[in-house]
Formats: sequence, structure tokens, C-alpha cells
Amino acid sequence: MQSKNETNNPTKEPESPSRRRAILTAGAGVVAAVGATSQTSAAEGATNKNALNMDGATSLLTGGARGIGLASAIALAKEGSNIVLYDVAEDLPGVNYPLARESDLSEAREKIESHGVKCSVYKGDVRDRNRMSQVVGETVEQFGSLDHVVVNAGVTQIGMIEYFTDEEVQTVIDINVTGAVRTVQSVVPIMREQNSGGITIISSVLGRQGEEWFPIYSSTKWAVIGLAKSTALIMGKHNVTCNAICPTVVKTDLMNNDYVLGAMSPQNPTWDGLEDLMTQWRNPLPMGAYEPADIGEIVRYFASEQGRKITGEVFGVTAGLFARNTA
Ligand SMILES: NC(=O)c1ccc[n+]([C@@H]2O[C@H](COP(=O)([O-])OP(=O)(O)OC[C@H]3O[C@@H](n4cnc5c(N)ncnc54)[C@H](O)[C@@H]3O)[C@@H](O)[C@H]2O)c1
Repeated sequence: MQSKNETNNPTKEPESPSRRRAILTAGAGVVAAVGATSQTSAAEGATNKNALNMDGATSLLTGGARGIGLASAIALAKEGSNIVLYDVAEDLPGVNYPLARESDLSEAREKIESHGVKCSVYKGDVRDRNRMSQVVGETVEQFGSLDHVVVNAGVTQIGMIEYFTDEEVQTVIDINVTGAVRTVQSVVPIMREQNSGGITIISSVLGRQGEEWFPIYSSTKWAVIGLAKSTALIMGKHNVTCNAICPTVVKTDLMNNDYVLGAMSPQNPTWDGLEDLMTQWRNPLPMGAYEPADIGEIVRYFASEQGRKITGEVFGVTAGLFARNTA
């Protein structure tokens, strides 16, 4: 156990990933040499390794089986980070469109490992704190450290406020807010002990704006900005950063499904119909949706050495929509 002075010393140098690995694996009673050897060889094939000093680091992403989570995982893997994906990988009551499948998780692992890093995948719900803590424990045991966490798992819903059922309201709050809180609760003890780490929370453009058709979803995305800023304050002295990213429409299965398209673009409930709507009526920039990889790039930045000097920030990826905000 570290003394108060050690844990609260803001001038303490953050440990390098390999040094952290040695300290933490020794603390966890794991044979450090095994982890270090396998990670080094796994990272050898990584492209552009060392560019952001993520070689041999470990990143955990919730909701990582597809979409923004998977694209972010690939962006981090390209920099040499080993990856842990945590995803419910099944449909849930109260969510009106299909979620990822177990096969998505295995395909995601193959894609990530093709970049020469190691990848572990776990099926689990972010609402389940015991499962989250178990996975965090196993991650540190396997890889020796936990350097970056992307709090990404989330679900959406669309409609008039009075017509959402109690189950729908509770589900979106429980997954998007409680799930994000539980993820942060599960990872901060290890990052505090490491005296280093980064957390990126995926909020939304609707986390800084209201929206008639996404009232509960929008509320949850405002809530996690509070979580990001509070976590930045709590963890700053431990060299742990926490920032939020706020994307507008991104081409993923969260938006590209009959339920959302039918409500957002009833005249033409197709992906092209939605993109036309965004381009012609909504976005200041002449563009439709972002690609998941565009968001992965911003995640990569916050996980990098440069990005790790920034905390408590809210970064919009909004095709200019935040230009309408007061500040
Ligand atoms: N796609 C967009 O337009 C957009 C815009 C702004 C913000 N976001 C946010 O980005 C994040 C990722 O969304 P996406 O667009 O990639 O969606 P997606 O549906 O493609 O991916 C979300 C992943 O989270 C998983 N998941 C859902 N509930 C879970 C739970 N309870 N526990 C564990 N995993 C769970 C799903 O299985 C899925 O793999 C979400 O938080 C979403 O709100 C998306």
C-alpha cells in the first residue's frame, strides 16, 4: 500500500508502461517476466510503434465489439497498445435495435491482433460492477498495467418524451450513466496505484445541446460530462486524465438501424436519407456523418503522451454544430 505522500505527490514522475508492468505484476503476485516477454513480442509487429509511446501499454474499451469502440481500439492497437474489449454482445430489453453479437467480439479480436498486439475479449454488461472489476483485475494480471480506458458502451432511443416506457427510460440511464460510473469506479483504484492513466468518456453532441427527439439520451450524455470533469479533478493529482468526446452522427449500427432511421428520416428511412438531412439542414460543414475511425483518431490523441497533458476537457466532433453553442 502506498503512503499518502506517495499517492498524492503531483510531482511524482509517471512510470513508463514497462516499469509499471513490472511493479504491478510484482504487486499482484504474477510472474512479471512472462507478461513482459509476451507483450514485447506481440508489439513487435505493430505499425508505427513508439510514435505515441503506447508500445506495450494496455487499453480497455467498453462496448468495443463494433462501432466507435472498435475503431478506437484499432487506432490504439496501431500504436502498439494491447487491447481489452468488454461488450454485452447480446440484445437487451428496453433497447429497440440490435446490439453486438458474440461473433462481433471474436471478429474484433482478429482485426486488432492483425496489428501485432494482444487482444482479450470479455462478454459483460457495464451495469455489472462485479464483472467489470473482475475484468479489470484479470487485465492487470495478464498485461501488467491499465493505461487507457475508453468509457464507450452506450445505447440510444428516439421519440416523444411522454411515450418512452419506464423500462426504456431506466435502461438508457442505467447503461449510459450508471454503466459509465461503474466503469470509472472499477478502473480508478488501479490507475491511482500506478500514478498514471487516461480515461476518455464518449458523450455526444447531445451532451452539450438539448434535442426534442432524444430527451433521455441527451440527459445521460450531459451526465457523463459531469462524470468526466469530476473524475479529472479527483484523479489529476495521481497523473490520471479524464476527458469527454462529443460526436455528432457517426455511421454505426446505433444510428444505422430501422428504429432510428424510421424516426429521424421518415420520408426516406435509409442511411442516405439521414446523411442528406444532416448535410442539407443541420451541419454547418457540408458533410453528413462521421466515420467511426474519425472518432478513434481523437481517442488516440487523448491516449497519447501529448494528449495526456490535457484533462477535464470536452471535445466536440460535430461538423460545426457546437458553433451554435453560447460558449
Ligand atoms: N453513432 C453515433 O452517431 C454516436 C454519436 C454520439 C455519441 N455516440 C456514443 O458513442 C458510443 C458508442 O456508440 P456506437 O455508435 O459505436 O454504437 P454501437 O451500437 O455500434 O456500439 C455500442 C456497443 O456497446 C455495446 N453495449 C451496449 N450496451 C452495453 C452494455 N450494457 N454493456 C456493455 N456493452 C454494451 C453494444 O453491444 C455495442 O457493441 C455510445 O456511448 C454512443 O452513445 C454515438
